[in-house]
Amino acid sequence: MALLGIESVVYGVDDLETSLRFYDDFGLERAATDEGGAVYRLAEGSSFVLRRADDPRLPPAFLPGQGPREVVWGVDSQASLDAVASELRRDREVRVDPDGTLHTRDEAGINIGFRLFDRRPLEVEPAPAENNLSAVQRWNRHRKWYERARPKLINHVVFGVPDVDRAVGFYVDRLGFRVTDIMRGLGMFMRCEGRHDHHNLFLLRGGRLFFSHISFGVETIDELMVGAMHMQRQGWRSDAGLGRHRVSSLVFYYMDSPAGGQTEYSADSDYLDDHWKPRMWDPEFGQHHWLAVLPADARIASTGTPVVLEGALPALAETVRQPSA
Ligand SMILES: [Fe+2]
Repeated sequence: MALLGIESVVYGVDDLETSLRFYDDFGLERAATDEGGAVYRLAEGSSFVLRRADDPRLPPAFLPGQGPREVVWGVDSQASLDAVASELRRDREVRVDPDGTLHTRDEAGINIGFRLFDRRPLEVEPAPAENNLSAVQRWNRHRKWYERARPKLINHVVFGVPDVDRAVGFYVDRLGFRVTDIMRGLGMFMRCEGRHDHHNLFLLRGGRLFFSHISFGVETIDELMVGAMHMQRQGWRSDAGLGRHRVSSLVFYYMDSPAGGQTEYSADSDYLDDHWKPRMWDPEFGQHHWLAVLPADARIASTGTPVVLEGALPALAETVRQPSA
């Protein structure tokens, strides 16, 4: 079986009008709108669905308040979809829609679905190379200019869960996810088997189940900057502003979303295949390479070394650094 990434994320929201304004400003393009909500379609073929929290089409809430009601993973073939159904039916109920979409819950209680994913190749012209001081790659050409950011795909979602190891075990052992990196004591990054982004799912250690954010991929840092500037002008708030994670190398711009949690533009991910060995990162070093706005309580280290993990991966609980005696 091969999962091809996030096929759709469905939200139940309290204030549909404000949420629609946010994602319209964000640059998503609507495919359908009705009384109860809207469906945004991304160039990759995935979709982002906003519905009023009481819309009967929504899956039941698994979190208090508004936000995601379901994450639907895209599957490469009917045979894979059948394999997912029979694997998960071993220990849980799996509902099937008339169109073949599967619905169930993961080990942490998150509503998940599976659907055939008609993943489209992205027709993105290669970004003109960046000129550095001693290696000029771009002669007599300017960079590509953007009027608006138009996110092309859903790159990842992030949830906090009480038992990260159990939740990660479910995705790895039952669904073929790859652990790509571990943030010591904090969480684990995973990518789908049929995908090479640094992560499609990040599970954080939390006292309870909560939603952190959803990340939408744009072509380049320039497109991300254009999106961020537009969102600022429209009055949408970002606490941290721009930054780059050291783990994953993603450049990011997070904003509070009126639909729940945060929403992120991301660009310039590391891409990994099965030659990659997961690394263990100390959060103070791995989280940020640079960040526009330092939080008051920021503990950021500018030096460190991620440790390459050989063999079986440790449980997250084992990675917590004990205060030295
Ligand atoms: Fe993110």
